[in-house]
Amino acid sequence: MPDDVDLSVEVAGLRLKNPVLPASGTFGYGHEPGALFDVSRLGAVVVKGTTLRPRAGNPPPRIVETTAGMLNSIGLENPGVDAVVAEHLPLLARLGVPVIVNVAGDTVDEYVEVVRRLDRAAGLIPAGLGLELNISCPNVEAGGLEFGRDPALAARLLGMVRAVTGLPLIVKLSPHSPDVVAMGRAVQDAGADAISLVNTMVGMAIDIWRRRPVLGGITGGLSGPAIKPMAVAMVYELAQHVDVPLIGMGGIATWQDAVEFILAGASAVAVGSALFANPLAPLEIIDGLVDYCGAQKVSSVRELIGAALPRRGS
Ligand code: FUM
Repeated sequence: MPDDVDLSVEVAGLRLKNPVLPASGTFGYGHEPGALFDVSRLGAVVVKGTTLRPRAGNPPPRIVETTAGMLNSIGLENPGVDAVVAEHLPLLARLGVPVIVNVAGDTVDEYVEVVRRLDRAAGLIPAGLGLELNISCPNVEAGGLEFGRDPALAARLLGMVRAVTGLPLIVKLSPHSPDVVAMGRAVQDAGADAISLVNTMVGMAIDIWRRRPVLGGITGGLSGPAIKPMAVAMVYELAQHVDVPLIGMGGIATWQDAVEFILAGASAVAVGSALFANPLAPLEIIDGLVDYCGAQKVSSVRELIGAALPRRGS
């Protein structure tokens, strides 16, 4: 494996030693997987969706395997922002990597208050604290996708959040955004420092013997290899129309998948569903990226970001 390849990237002002992250909601609070591998090898850790008050989440069953993917209907179960700050951030600080907390809410005021409290806690994470504004969760009745489908609503939310924090702000988009370019431009203009895409797609499974939906929440979010080509296309499209860095996700399981997203314009990539089958996937992807850069004779992964995009002006 070449040892002189530089995998470092900068996303939203966060310095990442490599571009490989876990996707929010698939990696617990970010420190628990330390029992399985050295989490500090990742570019950053991403904490699961955090709301103002504790949420119990949706009724079970919450997960169902599908062809080339899975459906989840967690419903943003979490202990609330104060518990995340008090119990999880101090443990995450020990990892020495940037931490990105995924923020969700039912209303603009809730998002703003969660962000305000995380902003006050930023000093706990010397390697850098970033926020990923979740406007794309398909499994809650209020908030979530409501903002992710409407650029004007998303921009208003961003403006209100931007007013209370100078922390790096990443906005997580839904594949259900009717116009990803309009949405991307709206959140960029309203103050987003980076955009992550895509969250899951609404889907469902029916138990044919019970004649009922399988998931307790009826519908869920589809993720995994089934959605990868769609996610790559959205990154490729958006990368041609915004200037902020993109974090690509949607079905990444191997280093080859990660390379596709990077060539399509992603500065970093997030691994989600694949972690359930192979928790070591991010480490394998990091190693694979080093080898690929070596084989392609590039000294920095940054040279590959957007390398498959049409040349500007052509
Ligand atoms: O159900 C969930 O907690 C999913 C969250 C998300 O997709 O952002």
